[in-house]
Amino acid sequence: MKNKSLVSIEDYGKNNILKILELAEYFEKNPNQKILDGKVIASLFFEPSTRTRLSFESAVNKLGGSIIGFTDAGSSSVSKGESLKDTIKTVSNYSDLIVMRHPLEGSAKYASEVSDVPIINAGDGANQHPTQTLLDLYSIKKTQGKLEDLNIFLVGDLKYGRTVHSLLMAMSNFNPVFNFISHPKLRIPAEHKLFLDNLGIKYYEHTEFTDIISKADIIYMTRVQRERFSDPMEYEKTKNAYVLNNAMLENTKENLRILHPLPRVNEISEDVDTNTKAYYFTQALNGVFTRQAIIASTLGLI
Ligand code: CP
Repeated sequence: MKNKSLVSIEDYGKNNILKILELAEYFEKNPNQKILDGKVIASLFFEPSTRTRLSFESAVNKLGGSIIGFTDAGSSSVSKGESLKDTIKTVSNYSDLIVMRHPLEGSAKYASEVSDVPIINAGDGANQHPTQTLLDLYSIKKTQGKLEDLNIFLVGDLKYGRTVHSLLMAMSNFNPVFNFISHPKLRIPAEHKLFLDNLGIKYYEHTEFTDIISKADIIYMTRVQRERFSDPMEYEKTKNAYVLNNAMLENTKENLRILHPLPRVNEISEDVDTNTKAYYFTQALNGVFTRQAIIASTLGLI
């Protein structure tokens, strides 16, 4: 993986995914390793972020590196009309690695083609969020003791949810059964179903999940993302379709854990936060160790 961009989770095969998880475990036990001494990581966020940006920053700091970048493209020369290509070419002169979030699908791939340093995709529109997926896998492995043969429920915005799209691809290496629960307007796209069909992976689609929740090992809740809708009425119709609350968890499996990439709006009631099955804040913490692993691996420092 040295010097290789991470644009899509498909860029890492099963073995590389497992290596990253192993490395993340090492960083969880040994967080302060000054292996990035003299290295500069650029963090270019053309879209808002709390967890991804700050956990990357935390990871770089723990590894002893420096971080440069912007959190708002409006404060960069993009606001004067500079192209993504010129921005990336310029920033790759100043850094050893670029972490980029951008609203356009395919922007990370394009950036990787014009950059002189590796690009880490921190989310490109509704397409992919591979570093989120690696921390999701780390969280699943940690809570379930394995990745294989799990019953994964994906709930909410399955159409535009980039975390869902990346997770589905990565988990497909581990013989899952998927249950997709969404409003009919936010169903999982046909191309992802075709991907699963070709691999012979079982999946079921539902519009309700109260009756089937007792079978889940992982419930992966997602936010209906207002920013992805061109029609505000469509957002209003779908935004509160699924709200998980504590009472719904009564007859669920002991090993069940609730994951969410966050931010949450209404889709998980706050009464779930104190349930031992709620894992989403620890999941966000796991982002630091996983991103330490991704940076170290991409720069060939381990
Ligand atoms: N999970 C995630 O991408 O969160 P942020 O948008 O806060 O980075």
